[in-house]
Amino acid sequence: MPFRLILIGPPGVGKGTQAALLEEHLKVKPLSSGVIFRQEIEADTDLGQLAKSYIDRGELVPNGVTIQMMIKRLRSDDVRRNGFVLDGFPRTVRQAEALDVELQNEQVVLDRVILLSVSDEVVVRRLAGRMGCTKCGEIYHSTNKPPAREGLCDKCNSQLLVRKDDNPETIRERLRIFREETAPVAEYYRAQGLLKDVDAAGDAVDVYALCTEGLVS
Ligand code: AP5
Ligand code: MG
Repeated sequence: MPFRLILIGPPGVGKGTQAALLEEHLKVKPLSSGVIFRQEIEADTDLGQLAKSYIDRGELVPNGVTIQMMIKRLRSDDVRRNGFVLDGFPRTVRQAEALDVELQNEQVVLDRVILLSVSDEVVVRRLAGRMGCTKCGEIYHSTNKPPAREGLCDKCNSQLLVRKDDNPETIRERLRIFREETAPVAEYYRAQGLLKDVDAAGDAVDVYALCTEGLVS
């Protein structure tokens, strides 16, 4: 049975890390709005140029283009067949409402929305040590998950890079926007009885077990 899941949480809480584990174990397709925007930036498309101006400041990309981009992905055959784990979308109540309309049209329902939480101190520590693979997107951490060879991806041997928005000033702004714009999205799903609160302070495997508790037998 294909699962349809959403991960909500502040920057650096581990959404991408959990999405990768969910893909590995449940075979769902991870759809990260942040990853897709960074691919558009890399390819220097019009959407990428627009997104870059917001992402570099830690602000949200406008709802209209974000919704359109994500709905296009949700309609792909792969996602329709295998289900999805959304990482970083929806991030505003307006995006959540647009997603609801799309899911109703597709006649599918969400299995679970997971709210990952940690203190700001942990966020800062996780983001300060993060490196990502420029090719396959694998996520590393200097102490929590170091690559076998410094600066190189274990999976595809490509170069690891630190994200441009992982600087103290932009992290502060991303945290502020999370509280203002995205925390209400969690409450939107809580009201629908879909939200699972997960303490994401433990290691990635323990957090995964909490995320999937009661979902798989
Ligand atoms: P996005 O790419 O989604 O960034 P984010 O929400 O700030 O989240 P991160 O990717 O920084 O963190 P994460 O939670 O994925 O953590 P990770 O697994 O990497 O969005 C970027 C920007 O794009 C936004 O600011 C916005 O401008 C724009 N955007 C995106 N979506 C949008 C939308 N819907 N609408 C409008 N604009 C949008 O983990 C972090 C580190 O911690 C890693 O090093 C990892 O190895 C380590 N780690 C993870 N879990 C654990 C653990 N349990 N224990 C120890 N270490 C851990
Ligand atoms: Mg991420």
